[in-house]
Amino acid sequence: MRLPDGQTKGAQGDTALWHPFADMHAVRRDEFIVDRADDVWVYDTEGRRYLDATASLWYCNIGHGRREIAEAVAAQLTRLEAYSVFGDYSNTPARELAHRLAGYAPMADAKVFLTSGGGDSVDTAVKIALTYWRHQGRPERTHVISRVGSYHGMHGIGTGLGGIDANRNGFDGVFPTASRVANNDAAALRAEIERLGADRVAAFIAEPVIGAGGVVPPAPGYLEAVAGICEQYGVLFVADAVICGFGRLGTWYGVERWGLRPDMITFAKGVTSGYLPLGGVVASGDVAAPFWDEPGRPFRHGQTYAGHATCAAAAMANLDIMEAENLLDRALKLETELHTALLELTGHDAVTEVRGGIGVLSAVEIHPDVLARDPGVLGKLHLAARRRGVLIRPLITSLAISPPLTISSEYFAHITEVIADALDEVTVP
Ligand SMILES: Cc1ncc(COP(=O)(O)O)c(C=O)c1O
Repeated sequence: MRLPDGQTKGAQGDTALWHPFADMHAVRRDEFIVDRADDVWVYDTEGRRYLDATASLWYCNIGHGRREIAEAVAAQLTRLEAYSVFGDYSNTPARELAHRLAGYAPMADAKVFLTSGGGDSVDTAVKIALTYWRHQGRPERTHVISRVGSYHGMHGIGTGLGGIDANRNGFDGVFPTASRVANNDAAALRAEIERLGADRVAAFIAEPVIGAGGVVPPAPGYLEAVAGICEQYGVLFVADAVICGFGRLGTWYGVERWGLRPDMITFAKGVTSGYLPLGGVVASGDVAAPFWDEPGRPFRHGQTYAGHATCAAAAMANLDIMEAENLLDRALKLETELHTALLELTGHDAVTEVRGGIGVLSAVEIHPDVLARDPGVLGKLHLAARRRGVLIRPLITSLAISPPLTISSEYFAHITEVIADALDEVTVP
């Protein structure tokens, strides 16, 4: 095969692949090529083995390389690979998946809008919210409140809502009816709703545990309080469970841990464990009612691959594995063991705290002096851990750990040791 000038195949050559969130100047000739994977292990093209302590991008909850998914996908591909579900078209895997996901949801009479990922789902939920209010005769309810430090994907609306400034800089205009409030401060949400006027606010969106913003669990009582405030002011509460769902917090949607019944839940990632791309929005029966119970109100929104039959079949097989292997209960056990192991790192001078303990996701916060001394330190720590055979993720000011839910807790001491060694190598003069 001919490649453009100067480009060759393989790790040594210049790449044509534009990587997300990457400095392509640095990466173009220096990619880390993942060649294959098996359960919690991934292998590079030289056959070197790495412990996947991040489940790729927080999604590979059942572990890599499961034949059950490959077989379900192959069977579906040979029967019906995909067909649009726009209008009255449907297919059996998409219907069955929607039914199953609605059944897992804590809301009454839930309906499920399928998408291709998390960003799709956030944009869909916000468009449902605004359309819902139009149908209620309240078209002025267009403002959406999110939180400082939140991540809601990189689509237009999600970018505008996101609370990580570096991701939003330059794009504020893409969804101007958005504002952010401090995390873990219910009074701040109330004050913002009052400032705007409740009759202008469509929705509040929050991740149960903030993920990409640095793994920040909710303060005791916070999520219950913001849910109550939303109810009081008639603001729709959207739980963004893209990371928190499908076992990451030990329940289907994460929110069950606090007894929450959001108006909508966005999900993706763990619903297929990433074997194929799929996401969606679960809407409560009340939110769906103006669309489902009234004639002549088509929701003019949807992605080509919504209800993709093979992606839905992959999700069904993934959920079968989660149920058969009790991965939700397993996660509840792992979360404490992971947090306990990582807490040892608080003894290191370069570490200010270890966050976690709610769900199988944790972050090791790096001391501000260390970050100020060397702004590239997180990348160096990530590489130092990778050289030692463990994949962790650099996140703003911390290192994140979120392994597959199939991991044995024996490995937690090893992950901790590798991070400690990386900290010694990179931060100790
Ligand atoms: C909470 C949350 N919402 C939305 C998204 C966006 O999902 P995607 O990257 O599939 O578009 C992510 C991705 O990490 C996420 O963590």
